[in-house]
Amino acid sequence: MDFIRWIPIFHILLAANLFLCISQNLKTEAVRHQDSRHNVLFIVVDDLRPALGCYEVSKYITPNIDQLCSMGIKFSNAYAQQALCGPSRVSFLTSRRPDTTRLYDVHSYWRHAAGNFTTLPQHFKEHGYHTASVGKVFHPGKSSNFNDDQPYSWSEKPYHPSTQAYKNSKVCAGPGGRKYSNIVCPVNVTQQPEATLPDMQSTRQAMQFLRDRARLESSPSTAPTAPFFLAVGYHKPHVPLKYPEQFLDLYPLSTVPLASNRHYPEHMPLVAWNPWTDLRDRDDVKELNVSFPFGPLPDDYQCLEARAHNAIGGKEWKD
Ligand SMILES: *[C@@H]1O[C@H](CO)[C@@H](O)[C@H](O)[C@H]1NC(C)=O
Ligand SMILES: *[C@@H]1O[C@H](CO)[C@@H](O)[C@H](O)[C@H]1NC(C)=O
Ligand SMILES: *[C@@H]1O[C@H](CO)[C@@H](O)[C@H](O)[C@H]1NC(C)=O
Repeated sequence: MDFIRWIPIFHILLAANLFLCISQNLKTEAVRHQDSRHNVLFIVVDDLRPALGCYEVSKYITPNIDQLCSMGIKFSNAYAQQALCGPSRVSFLTSRRPDTTRLYDVHSYWRHAAGNFTTLPQHFKEHGYHTASVGKVFHPGKSSNFNDDQPYSWSEKPYHPSTQAYKNSKVCAGPGGRKYSNIVCPVNVTQQPEATLPDMQSTRQAMQFLRDRARLESSPSTAPTAPFFLAVGYHKPHVPLKYPEQFLDLYPLSTVPLASNRHYPEHMPLVAWNPWTDLRDRDDVKELNVSFPFGPLPDDYQCLEARAHNAIGGKEWKD
C-alpha cells in the first residue's frame, strides 16, 4: 500500500477484542480532490490480546503492526469491558459501558434493548463520511439486528468473507487421509474451500477498497469525494485456529512454553468455571477424552502448536 501516506497518529486500544484505530491521509501528493479531513482505517481483531511485537518484543513476529506502532501512540493500560465478543464490540462501538448498553450476551440488539445509541461509524457517516465495513466489525446476528446495524452505521452493504461459512466444516487434514473439524488446524490454503481463508478475503476486499479510493481521489475528472471510514474486522485469532501452515515455521516448538498457571483457582465458585463445551465438540479435542467439567488437557495438547504438527502428520513434538 505504498500509495498511502500515513499520518503519524493512531491509537491502539485493547479490549476483549483488540482494535486499532488509524487516522490516515490517503490523498496522493499531486491531486487533492477531497475535503481536508482525514480518512480513517479502523482495524478490529477478534480475541487478540497484546501478543504483538510492539508489546512483547522478540516474542511475536508482527512486523506490520510494529511499524504502525512505531509511528503512533501505543496504549498500555486498557481493559476488556466484557469478556464476550458481542457486548464488547457494542461497548466500544457505542462508547458506552456494558452497564449502559445492558448487553452481556449475544442475544439482543442494543437499539432495542438499551437505547438508540449512535455508533462510531454512524457518527462519521452523519458527518459526511463514506463508511464501509469489511469482515467482523459488529458481532453478526441478533447483536447487530442481522444486518450489521445497517443502514445507521454504514454507507454501503457490509462485506463478509464467503469462506467463513466453512468455519466449523471438516476441512482439517488428519489421520487416515480424512478431514476433521479441529480446534487447531494449520492448512494448505490452496486445498481449502475456494482456495482461501476468511481473513485473506477480507484483506483483499479492504485493499481493493483503498485502491479504488486512491484512483478516485487522484482522478482529475471527478468531483470532490467524501472522506472515508473503513472498518476491517479480522476473525483470527478467534477459534477455530485455522491458518496457513507455513506460519508454524516462524515459531519453533522448542520456543513455545506451557502456560505458567494451568490450574483453576482454589475456592473458585463453580459458576465461575467455563467447561468450554464448544472446544470439547471438536474432533481433535474429542479424541482426548478429557473428563468433564474440570479435566485438564494433556500437557502436550496444551502446547497447541505441537498438536497441530502431529495432526497434519508433520514433525514430532519433543518435550
Ligand atoms: C434512532 O436514531 C436515528 C438517528 O440516529 C433515527 O433516525 C431513528 O429514527 C431513531 N430510531 C428510533 C426508534 O428512535
Ligand atoms: C498445497 O496444495 C497444493 C495443491 O494440492 C500442492 O500443489 C502443494 O504442493 C501443497 N503445498 C504444500 C506445502 O504441501
Ligand atoms: C479415548 O477413548 C476411546 C474410546 O474409549 C479410546 O479408543 C481412545 O484411545 C481414548 N483416547 C485417549 C487419548 O485416551
